[in-house]
Amino acid sequence: MEQYVVKGGNPLVGEVEIGGAKNAALAILSAAVMTDETVTIENIPNVRDINVLLNAIQEIGAMVERVDAHTVKMNGSFIRDFNVDNEYIRKIRASYYLIGALLGKYKKAEVALPGGCNIGSRPINLHLKGFQALGATVDIRHGLVIASAERLVGTHIYLDKISVGATINIMMAAAKAEGKTIIENAAKEPHVVDVANFLNSMGANIRGAGTDVIRIVGVERLHKTEYSIIPDQIEAGTFMMAAAATKGDIMVKNVIPKHLESISAKLLEIGCEVEEFDDAVRVVSARRLRHTQVTTLPYPGFPTDMQPQMAVVLGLARGTSTVTESIFENRFKYVDELTRMGASIKVESNIAIIDGIKNYTGARVNAPDLRAGAALVIAGLAAEGITVVDDIYYIERGYEEFEHKLAGLGALIEKVSTEKEIQKFTLKVS
Ligand code: EPZ
Repeated sequence: MEQYVVKGGNPLVGEVEIGGAKNAALAILSAAVMTDETVTIENIPNVRDINVLLNAIQEIGAMVERVDAHTVKMNGSFIRDFNVDNEYIRKIRASYYLIGALLGKYKKAEVALPGGCNIGSRPINLHLKGFQALGATVDIRHGLVIASAERLVGTHIYLDKISVGATINIMMAAAKAEGKTIIENAAKEPHVVDVANFLNSMGANIRGAGTDVIRIVGVERLHKTEYSIIPDQIEAGTFMMAAAATKGDIMVKNVIPKHLESISAKLLEIGCEVEEFDDAVRVVSARRLRHTQVTTLPYPGFPTDMQPQMAVVLGLARGTSTVTESIFENRFKYVDELTRMGASIKVESNIAIIDGIKNYTGARVNAPDLRAGAALVIAGLAAEGITVVDDIYYIERGYEEFEHKLAGLGALIEKVSTEKEIQKFTLKVS
């Protein structure tokens, strides 16, 4: 098992390049199987969840060629098997996008029920209701979602709850249904728009992505395309929080500042300087920050995927802050770990009440999930002394070269796998 070992206390200073959006790439790579022509996709982050998905796509017969670390060529004409199941795909969430993609194209899909980060119960009832509304029969048997249809026919779908996954999945299946589908109460996240743009570049007819009503007119055929994925809003936000927590000065490059507005607004409110450029955001944190209230909400609200990183920053701010998690029911598992580093946080139902302290102190902690893991690394970078973050497997699901990017900003961080290496690092930095 690998760990990150961190010596905190250095302000992070410098420039960092943000990669492509993981959650957009997972959907776009799935959608790419929907044409029989060759699709080229650029700016794919080279992270574990993406590699698991690409392997699964290859296993069902598609041609997947890794042109370089961030570019893939794919041809779905060779797919002969509609059963997607292996021990790795069962652990990722985005496997569900292959249901929409295969059902749309072949009117048939058998995909392992999705896993993913353990942040509460994560049903996919809205995805399945959407497929059924389009005319599919959906069963769950032996751990597989089995969906099939004679024909898919466009319809009017109202999502009871705003869901990124369900919006994208229904959009993919409807792109090849007969006639018009309207999705109401749709998610508006930047990656919903990116997937719609990608499908449209293959010849789909999707309008309104980015608003809460998406209109799709099904087409018979999708064709080849070349497409570059948008920058990762959450990776960018994570580095913005790293600047805030370590009293640093970071230029976060290759981003779309509009996608970061809710994050920038909170950082400004608590006393950071945030400067926007065309494709970069600079965050400077020169003094002790102020407390605030944050509630996670669907886009354009404050993202749930930034909640743990924000809490780490507020843990060091003056006064009492609250962080309300309104999307997932169990996304405070990092609080016990952060408490080991000295944080003063009480969780009541879905609200974390945070009394800011002056300094975290290094400790041995576990990454409970992807974003919480990144948040604990940030806490370690701000802390006095040495922090060891275990279970970094989670972090590697979604952050490419995390430790190298941080080291480029002056962080003292190493990936290690033995106690001996931890001791060696400790001796080196002390
Ligand atoms: C996506 O998850 C992301 N995952 C998550 O990113 C992200 O936290 C989340 O969207 C919210 O932005 C991927 O893109 C692979 P939802 P998803 O459907 O699609 C409920 C990360 O760290 N719901 O928008 O699973 C659900 O329980 C991860 O990168 C239903 O009730 O999220 C939740 O309360 C973690 N029924 C809410 O909707 C459904 O059928 C929003 O979930 C579907 C969802």
